[in-house]
Amino acid sequence: VINHGVPLELLEKIKVAAKAFFDQPVEEKRKVKRDEVNAMGYHESEHTKNVRDWKEVFDFFIKDPSFLPASPETEDDEIRTLSNQWPETPPQFREVCQTYAREVEKLGYKLLELISLSLGLPSNRLNGHFEDHTTMMRLNHYPPCPCPELALGVGRHKDAGALTIVAQDDVGGLQVRRKSDEVWVPVKPTPNALVINVGDTIQVWSNEAYESVEHRVVVNSERERFSIPVFFFPSHYVMVKPLEELVNEGNPPKYKPYNFGKFFVARNRSDYKKLEVQNIQISDFKII
Ligand code: OGA
Ligand code: NI
Repeated sequence: VINHGVPLELLEKIKVAAKAFFDQPVEEKRKVKRDEVNAMGYHESEHTKNVRDWKEVFDFFIKDPSFLPASPETEDDEIRTLSNQWPETPPQFREVCQTYAREVEKLGYKLLELISLSLGLPSNRLNGHFEDHTTMMRLNHYPPCPCPELALGVGRHKDAGALTIVAQDDVGGLQVRRKSDEVWVPVKPTPNALVINVGDTIQVWSNEAYESVEHRVVVNSERERFSIPVFFFPSHYVMVKPLEELVNEGNPPKYKPYNFGKFFVARNRSDYKKLEVQNIQISDFKII
C-alpha cells in the first residue's frame, strides 16, 4: 500500500531505531532477551518449521500487557499476562517503536474494514475480534550471510494472524510463492510503501475467499537487511471459524473452529527450539 497514512518521517525513524538497536553489542541486547515464559524482547535463534533462521529479532505487543493462554493444552485454562521488555538504549527507541506501532495499528483497522466490505459485510464486522488483540510488532535484522545459498532469513511459512503490515528497507529478500507455478517471486522494495500479507486467520474467516500467502526471506553475503512487520492477531479467546454470513449449503465451512490463543501458543512454542514434530498449521482444522 501507498498513501497509507503512516507518516513517512516515522517510517524513516523506525528503520534508524532498528539499526541503532541491533548495532549494539550482543550483551546489551541480551538484557532484554525473551524466554519461554515471556515471548517478548530480543531473540537471536528463532526457528521456522524447526530450522534455525539467519536473523535476530526484537518483539513487543502493541497492547501492554497482552493476554494469552499459559499453555497450548486444551484442559489448561490458565491465562498469562504478558508484558513488554524495553531496553534502556538506544534513547528514544521505545518512543519511536510505540509511535510507529500506533500509526500502523490505525492502518490495520482500515484494511480490516476494507476486507470486510469486499466480502459484502459491514465495515466493522471484524473489529469485535480485536478488542483484546495480541498484535505484535517485530524488528527483524538479517545480517550478511557467508553462504546465502545454504540459509534463509526466514524459512517458508504463512503468517498465523489476520494481516501483516511490513516495512522493509531497500535491500530486498522477501519472496512470495506464486500458486500457479510454485515459483518464488521477489517482493521488490518500493520506497515508502508497506507490504501487506494476508494471514491464516483471514483465510479461515473468509472461508478461503482470501488466501494466506506463503513467503520466505532470502539472505545475501553483502548487505544486512532490516524489516519491520506488525502482525495483527485477534484476542486470545476468539474462536476462529468461517464467518456465518459467508457459509451456506452451497458453500459449507471449510474449517473447524479453533481457539486463536491456543493455536498461537502452540505455534510459538516451536519458535524456540527444534522440535521433533511438525508445528501446528490451519490445515489441521481443515474439513476435507
Ligand atoms: C516474518 C516475515 C518478512 C520480511 O517475520 O514473518 O515474513 O520481509 N518477514 O522480513
Ligand atoms: Ni511472515
